[in-house]
Amino acid sequence: MNKIFVSLAAIAALLITVGCNNSASTEGTDEVKIGFLVKDAQEDWFQQEWKFAQKAADEHGFTLIKQPAEDAEAVMSQIDNLNTQGVKGLIICPPEVTLGPAITKMTEQYGMKLFVVDDRFIKPDGTPLDTHYMGISARNIGHKVGDALFDEMSARGWDPSEVGAIGLTFDEIATLKDRTEGAKEALVAKGFDGSRVFFAPQSKANIEVANSVTQATLNQHPEITKWLIFGNNDVAVVGAVRAIEQAGLSHENVIACGINGSAESISEFERDEPTAVWGTILLSPKQHGYDTATMVYKWVAEGEEPARETLTEGQLITRENYETVLVEQGLRE
Ligand code: GLA
Repeated sequence: MNKIFVSLAAIAALLITVGCNNSASTEGTDEVKIGFLVKDAQEDWFQQEWKFAQKAADEHGFTLIKQPAEDAEAVMSQIDNLNTQGVKGLIICPPEVTLGPAITKMTEQYGMKLFVVDDRFIKPDGTPLDTHYMGISARNIGHKVGDALFDEMSARGWDPSEVGAIGLTFDEIATLKDRTEGAKEALVAKGFDGSRVFFAPQSKANIEVANSVTQATLNQHPEITKWLIFGNNDVAVVGAVRAIEQAGLSHENVIACGINGSAESISEFERDEPTAVWGTILLSPKQHGYDTATMVYKWVAEGEEPARETLTEGQLITRENYETVLVEQGLRE
C-alpha cells in the first residue's frame, strides 16, 4: 500500500512539475544530449548497456547523461534534471513498468523523444503501452534455457524421476514472466514432468530474495537430490545457486542456467572449480546500449524515427565456450 501511495504521489508531483517547467535552459545550442536512466545501476547488465551507449556517444559526438532511477521519485527528478540540461532524447529501463503512462506524458510535455529498453511499460489495465521499445525475445530465450537444461541432464544420464526444477520468477514484468514460463514450457515439451517444476516467486528481483525463496523451496522437497535451476536473469540464478551450496548439494547434482551472460555468471565460469552455474544465455548489451543510443541520436539530430519494436536474440554459453563467444561478440578483447 505504502509503495503504491508513494508512486501515486510521485506521479502527481511529477505532472505538476512538468506543467511549471517545460523549457530547457540550454535551448538554442546545437549540442545533442541524450539521457539514459536504468532501474539498477549496480547490475552488470545495465553497466554494459551504458558502456556501449557511451561508445555510440563518443563515435557520433553527442553527450550521454547516465543516471540510476531506482524508484518513482528518482525517475521524476531525473527527467526533470535532464530537461533542465537540454536533453532531447531519453532511453529508459523503468524501476516500475506501471510508471509508463506518467513517464510518457512527462517526456511528451518536455518535447523529449522516448525510447524504452528492456522492461516494457504497461497501462493501468496491465496491457503493454506502445512506445518505441527494444527488449529480448523473452519466450524464445526461455525455451533455450529449458532445452539446454534438459539436454545437459540427459547428457549426465540422470533419471528424470529423481530430478526437480526450481524456477525463480518475477511475474510483474512481462519480459521476466515470459522467460520463466518459456523455460518450463521447453522442459515439459521435452518430456520433463511439469509437476516437478517448482516456481519460486521473488518479491523483489535481487540476489538475497532469490537466495531465500530457493532455500524455502529446497526445504519443502528434501526427497529431491538432483536439481535444475532457472530464473529471470543471472542475478536470480546465482542467488539460487548460493542457496544450493548452503544446503550442501554438490555442483555435480545441480545444473543452473541463467540469462544475460553478464559478470554475475562469467565470474562463476572463471573460478578454478566449477559451480552449479553451468550456463547462461548471452544477450546483447551492445544492441541494447549502442544501437538504442545511436537510434535515439539519429531521431533527435536527423529526424530519423527508429523501428517501433526490436526484439533481440541470445545464445547459450557455458564454461566450455564462453571465452570464444565473448570475443566473437565484441564483449571481450
Ligand atoms: C530485464 C532484466 C535484466 C536484463 C534485461 C534484458 O531488465 O532485469 O537483467 O535481463 O531485462 O533486456
